[in-house]
Amino acid sequence: MLEVIDLRVYYKSIFGDYKSVDGVSLSVKKGEIFGIAGESGCGKSTLVDGILRLIRPPGYIRSGKVFFEGKNLLELDESRLNKIRWSRISYIPQGSMNSLNPVLRIEEQATDALIEHSDLTKNEAKRIIEEKLGVVGLPREVLRSYPHELSGGMRQRVIIAIAIALNPSLVIADEPITALDVVVQKSLLKLLKDLRNNYGVTLMFVSHDMAAHAQLVDRMAIMYAGKVVEVGDTEDIFYNPQHPYTKLLISSIPKLEKKEIKGIPGIAPSPLNWPRGCRFHTRCPWAMDICTIYEPEMLQIDGGRLVACHLYGESGKQH
Ligand SMILES: Nc1ncnc2c1ncn2[C@@H]1O[C@H](COP(=O)(O)OP(=O)(O)OP(=O)(O)O)[C@@H](O)[C@H]1O
Ligand code: SF4
Ligand SMILES: [Mg+2]
Repeated sequence: MLEVIDLRVYYKSIFGDYKSVDGVSLSVKKGEIFGIAGESGCGKSTLVDGILRLIRPPGYIRSGKVFFEGKNLLELDESRLNKIRWSRISYIPQGSMNSLNPVLRIEEQATDALIEHSDLTKNEAKRIIEEKLGVVGLPREVLRSYPHELSGGMRQRVIIAIAIALNPSLVIADEPITALDVVVQKSLLKLLKDLRNNYGVTLMFVSHDMAAHAQLVDRMAIMYAGKVVEVGDTEDIFYNPQHPYTKLLISSIPKLEKKEIKGIPGIAPSPLNWPRGCRFHTRCPWAMDICTIYEPEMLQIDGGRLVACHLYGESGKQH
């Protein structure tokens, strides 16, 4: 359904370009929930903004291709792209539940959003929003509310209702459960899963929260330093991680029975100056000489698993 090929999204600065997304390739299959995980700052939001061509200056799309239902979104003219955004692909940006307009009732802002992205009349838009509020488990009275009268979880449900209003085939949700309490998080994860199971929505779920990925997604990509380093089925990623960064990321998830808190050693590098060779070599306990010189290529190792690390493939066999 969605295929991203070697996408590069940079931000210009007086010091040079921040290479925030620097050669990402991945594909999302119809009907699946696909996760994008990785530490804060690894480029998750920049990636989805790049996919939807929502990058604003000083950011720019350096190169790449983004095929959605057979069309390269990076080559479409703005008016055709606008038609696809919302009606075919909808987007829940990071922090959007806090960007509802505080002085407008939900009804006004939700119907305005729909009218702007479709040919619907005000009445039609209102009817659709009413129906979608039901789908996300909110009463129709919410239409008369102002955002401050709703809890964080309810506001996020409103955002999801607006996002699915035009029946998109793909929804991209960036950190949709972050900053909410665990009970609300759990109910939102269930809602997102129901949207796929009951309405056939394909979902791209972006989060730094590995526990959320474990509960929700079917397959996932692990990002590090502007690149995807591993892709696989969620169970395989959690029970049998292959890339050293994935291994450390999984082992740093807090466990009830173990009181010690494990982190990943070292600090994340800057997109202004990625380390040469494998970008993880400055923090990797398995690093070899080759890792400081050559960037590892993405290899398929078993089934659908993809890993970018010199421990695999020809160069790994020599060590
Ligand atoms: N508008 C901008 N101008 C310059 N640099 C930016 C801009 N937006 C993001 N960046 C840089 O791009 C890198 C990736 O940021 P991004 O927001 O995509 O990360 P993220 O993985 O979504 O992080 P988080 O988990 O905190 O949301 C960061 O190093 C950030 O400093
Ligand atoms: S390529 Fe080398 S440095 Fe990079 S993750 Fe693999 S072993 Fe570690
Ligand atoms: Mg982000």
